[in-house]
Amino acid sequence: MRLIVSLLLVVALAVTAFSFYQVYTEKIRLRGELEGRTIVLAESLQESVTPLVQSNSLKKLNRLVERFGNRERLKGVAVFDREGNILSSTPELIPKIPKPLPQIISSITENRSLGSFIKIDDKKTYIYTIPISEEDRLIGALALFHDASYMDLRLEGIWEHNLLRFLTMSILIVVITLLVVRWSVTGPIAQFAEWMRELRMGKGKVTQPSASLRGDVLAPLISEVTHLAKSLSLARARAEEEARLRVKAESLWTASRLKEHMRAELGRKKLFLISNREPYMHVKEGRNIGCIIPAGGVVTALDPVMRICDGVWIAHGGGDADREIVDENDKLRVPPEEPAYTLKRIWLTKEEEDGYYYGFSNEGLWPLCHITHTRPIFRLEDWVHYQRVNEKFADALLKEIANEESPLVLIQDYHLALLPLLVKEKRPDAKVSLFWHIPWPNPEAYGICPWHQEILIGMLGADIIGFHTQFHCNNFLDTVDRFLESKIDWEHFSVDRGGHTTLARPFPISVSFESLSDKASAIQEKASLKETILKEIGIQAKYLGVGVDRIDYTKGIPERFRAIERFLEKYHEFVGEFIFIELGAPSRIHIKRYRDVMTEIEEMVDKINWRFQTKRWKPIVFLKRHHRHEEIYRFYKTADLCMVTSLHDGMNLVAKEFVTSRADEDGVLILSQFTGASRELKDAIIVNPYAIEGMADAIYLALTMEQDERSQRMVRMRQVVREHNIYRWAGNLITILVRLRMPEVLEQERD
Ligand code: G6P
Repeated sequence: MRLIVSLLLVVALAVTAFSFYQVYTEKIRLRGELEGRTIVLAESLQESVTPLVQSNSLKKLNRLVERFGNRERLKGVAVFDREGNILSSTPELIPKIPKPLPQIISSITENRSLGSFIKIDDKKTYIYTIPISEEDRLIGALALFHDASYMDLRLEGIWEHNLLRFLTMSILIVVITLLVVRWSVTGPIAQFAEWMRELRMGKGKVTQPSASLRGDVLAPLISEVTHLAKSLSLARARAEEEARLRVKAESLWTASRLKEHMRAELGRKKLFLISNREPYMHVKEGRNIGCIIPAGGVVTALDPVMRICDGVWIAHGGGDADREIVDENDKLRVPPEEPAYTLKRIWLTKEEEDGYYYGFSNEGLWPLCHITHTRPIFRLEDWVHYQRVNEKFADALLKEIANEESPLVLIQDYHLALLPLLVKEKRPDAKVSLFWHIPWPNPEAYGICPWHQEILIGMLGADIIGFHTQFHCNNFLDTVDRFLESKIDWEHFSVDRGGHTTLARPFPISVSFESLSDKASAIQEKASLKETILKEIGIQAKYLGVGVDRIDYTKGIPERFRAIERFLEKYHEFVGEFIFIELGAPSRIHIKRYRDVMTEIEEMVDKINWRFQTKRWKPIVFLKRHHRHEEIYRFYKTADLCMVTSLHDGMNLVAKEFVTSRADEDGVLILSQFTGASRELKDAIIVNPYAIEGMADAIYLALTMEQDERSQRMVRMRQVVREHNIYRWAGNLITILVRLRMPEVLEQERD
C-alpha cells in the first residue's frame, strides 16, 4: 500500500505540474491567436471606419458596424467619439457595454491599442480597442468584442483530459505494482518463509530454495539464509548425533572413550602386543630409507589401538633397513610422524624366516585354516624353526615384562600359536590373550596337521582366545574336544585343562571409523577424483569397480576376474563402460603357490583385456604394487562398487575400509559369504565366489541399483562399522582380560 500510495502521489504531482504548464502555454497560444485575429480585423475595420467618423456619416457607419457584428465569435463592434460616447454599435451590444468604458478612455487618451478581457453576459469577452485619428488628430476609437469563453472551455478540457489520464495511469500502476510485488517479492518471500518453516520443523532440504524461488532481489538473502540453514541442519544433525551417542554411550566406542577406559582399567600398566608383522617397516629406497605400513588386517586394526594405549609392540623386523633405525635395545618410537608407542624388533635368520614364516606359518597353518583347496605342507624342519622362533619371541617378551606386575599380553595370529604357553609357564601372573585373525577349521580339516596337539596345547596357555566369529569359536572348542584331554564348558565357551581355564570368545575385529573417515574426507572431491584417476590410467569409462588385496590365493582374485569376464559377456552394454581396477600388493612371493597365483592373475588379466579391449578402453587394470592408505582411499572413495570375493577369510577389513570411506553414502559392496565381514555387513550384495554366474549378476545388480537403495544400504553398513569399530573390539577384549580372575595367581598367593 505504501508503495502504491507513494507512486500515485508522485504521479499526481507530475500530472498536475504538467497540466499547469500545458494550460499555461495553451492559454498564451489561444490568447495570441485571438489577439492576432482581432488586430487584423480591427485594423482593416479602422480604415473603413475613419472617413465615416470624420464625415460624421452615421448611417453608413451603422451599416458597416451591422455588417461586421455577430460573425462567428465576434460578438460585435462599437465606434466611439473622442469623449468615449458610442457613435455606432452592433445593436445587441449597446445595453451590455459598460458606460463609460474605461479601456476606450485609456486608448483615446494614451493613443494606443489596448486589449483585455471583461465579462459580458457572464461570458468571458475579449475587447480590443484601437484609436481612430485623422491626420494626427484623434477623432474617436473603435472597439471589437470577441467571445473568449471557448478559451476557458479548451483549458478545462485539458484539465479533464489529464485527470482522465491520471486515473487510467493510477489503475495501471496499482495493477502492475501488485503483480510485480506479488511475483517477485511477496510470492518468493511466502515460499521462502514456508521453506524456512519446514526447515525449522526439520522437514525441508537445505539445498533446495534458490532454484525454485524467482526474483533476483532475494538472491543475496537466499544465499545467506541457505548458509544459515546449512549450519542449522548441521548443528541439528550434530545435536541429534550427540543425543544418539548419549543414549548409546554404553555401546559406542571412540578413541577417547577407549583411552579413558584404559586409564581406568589399566592405571599405569602398559600393553604388550606381539605379532609377526610389524606395523612400520623401514625399507631402502635408493640411497634413502622409507617407511611403509605393510598390508594386512593385523596392522590396520591394531595400530590405532596402540596409538592411544601406549605400550610395546614386539614384531619381526622384516624391512631391509629396519636395523638402521632402531636403538641399542632394537626399539624405536612409532608412528614416525607422531610417536605414540614403542616398537621392538626381533631379528630372524634367513633359515628361521624360511622355516617359521614361509614354511610352517604360511605353507602349513595358513592353508590349513583357510579351506581353499590349497594343500598344506608340513615339514619337520619348518616345525622346528616355528618352535624356536616362538621361543625367541617369548624370550623377548619375558624380558620386556620382567618388571611388570600382572602384565597384559596381546598375542596375534597363527605365527605365534605356541607363545601363550611359553609365556604362561614363566609368568603365570601375566594375563595373556591370543587373537586368531584367520578362520579356524573343523576338527577333520585341522587334524591333518602332524603337530595338531602341540599347537592346541600352546594356544591353551592363553586366558582368552579370540576369533572373529562364534562359528570359529565353536570349531575351535570342537577341535580341542576331539584331540585333547580337557573339559569343555559349552555354556561359558571355555576349556579347562590341567587346572587352567581358557575362554574362547568372538571379537569381530574392525577399523577405526573416525580416523579413516577423516582420512577419506581429506581426499579430493569425489566427482573430479574419478576423472583424475581415469586420466592417470589413460582409460575412459563410466563405471568404476575396485578391488584391494594382498595377492593371495585365498582372496578369490581369479574368480573375481572370471566373473567380470562373464559379466561383460552377458551384459554386453557395459563393454567400454565398466572398468575394474585391482590394487594388488605382492605377498609371500617366496612361496610357489603365491607366485603361481600371481602368474594366473596376470595371464587372466591379459586374456580378458585382449578379448574385450578397444582403442581407449580395457576392462581390467591390475596395479601390482604396495599402495599407501592415502592412495587406496582415492579409489575407495570414487568407486561405484568394491569387490571382496575371498574364498575364505577371517574377517576382511577391506570391506570395512570401503564402507568407512563412503561418507557420501554411495557405492555398492560385493562381499563373499565366506568372509567374517559378511556376518556384519548384511547390506552388501553377498556372493558365493565359486558361483561365477551369480557374481556376474551381482556386478550387474550393483551397477544398476537405484540411488536410494544404494544409499540406504550404505547408511546401514556405515552404522554397523561405526558402532562395531576397533575401539570397541579392543575395549571388550582388554576389559575381559583385565577383569579375569586368575586361579594360578590366587593359588600362589595362598601358598
Ligand atoms: C593376514 C594375517 C596377518 C598378516 C597379514 C599379512 O591378515 O592374518 O597376520 O600379517 O595377513 O600377511 P603377511 O604375511 O604379509 O604378514
